[in-house]
Amino acid sequence: MLSTTLNKLSVWFSHHSAFSGYFEPVIQRVKPAWRQGLYRAQVLNVTKAIGDFVHITLQPQHQWKAHKAGQHIELTVELNGRLLTRIFTIASSARQYAKDKTITLVIKTHKFGRFTPQLDKELTINSWVNISAAKGEFVFQYSNKSLDTPTVMVAGGSGITPMMSMLSEHLSTTNNPIYLRYIAPLNEHQFVEQLALLAKKYPCFTFDLMTRNEHELQPLALVAKSAIYCCGPQGLMSDIEALSKNTGANFYQEHFSLAPIVNDDSSIEVDVTVTLNGNVFTASNQQNLLIQLENQNAQVTRGCGIGVCHQCHCTKKSGLVKNLLTGDVSDSGEQIIQLCISQPLSNLEMSI
Ligand code: FES
Repeated sequence: MLSTTLNKLSVWFSHHSAFSGYFEPVIQRVKPAWRQGLYRAQVLNVTKAIGDFVHITLQPQHQWKAHKAGQHIELTVELNGRLLTRIFTIASSARQYAKDKTITLVIKTHKFGRFTPQLDKELTINSWVNISAAKGEFVFQYSNKSLDTPTVMVAGGSGITPMMSMLSEHLSTTNNPIYLRYIAPLNEHQFVEQLALLAKKYPCFTFDLMTRNEHELQPLALVAKSAIYCCGPQGLMSDIEALSKNTGANFYQEHFSLAPIVNDDSSIEVDVTVTLNGNVFTASNQQNLLIQLENQNAQVTRGCGIGVCHQCHCTKKSGLVKNLLTGDVSDSGEQIIQLCISQPLSNLEMSI
């Protein structure tokens, strides 16, 4: 009751949806990276790997609940004074977490990205980041265990991470054949030694490392009712989904993509959906968010209206906005924005 009242007061008199959020900077002096609504995780190891990958081992705070193999988390890191969030599948198994309370992320770094190229420099050992609860439905389907049909996994690039987690977790629980086709540029395959060890230990498991060309020259042979797990670029997943449909296989997929810009031609007016604190509004891509949300009686705070006072701060959880002062287009992940100088470019999810 008290915390509900305090949270209401917080919404009225500050920019935070929870009273504790108002004291974030104070709490962070004792608990680095403490943030309302997120878990803290300590960086235990960061290793650069072939193919511009970085392997990161994290130890989440003890309240974090173990993931199911194949699930993902949102990773939030403060980079150059900005909080940036991206989604990554956990590459390690729930068994690893049960054993030593660690999880491993295997992340492809993108040379011109704002997030991934900085990770190996910014994440020092024992530093802290934030993670979300584990999420996602891309998990091993136990209903298939009883069927005497093969499981086929197709991974493209960093799409190997959920497969690795599922294999580490479930190979010891099944005798049905499991085949992995892992497609990546030459010499950029991750986990090569671990996959070889798994194949040696579990005779039901076989795998092929292929380049895209090799994959296209050797079409997959699928059988009806088999379970097909696919994670990778959209083109690959569309092809495997079509193949699965044709053969009557059960298709499961996981992919993450940027929020699509609703219209590349910004002179054409298009409406987007804006979800603010769970309430749904409609906004045009031609005007700033503050005016449009005020017109729909949303609970927003107005100050100067020109991007100076920061009274209109809010947290964009997902989606793209354009900063009307600088012309910069945001990332699709979590970020603090000023409503009065933000023009929506895609559907948005936000909280205050
Ligand atoms: S209202 Fe002042 S910065 Fe937006």
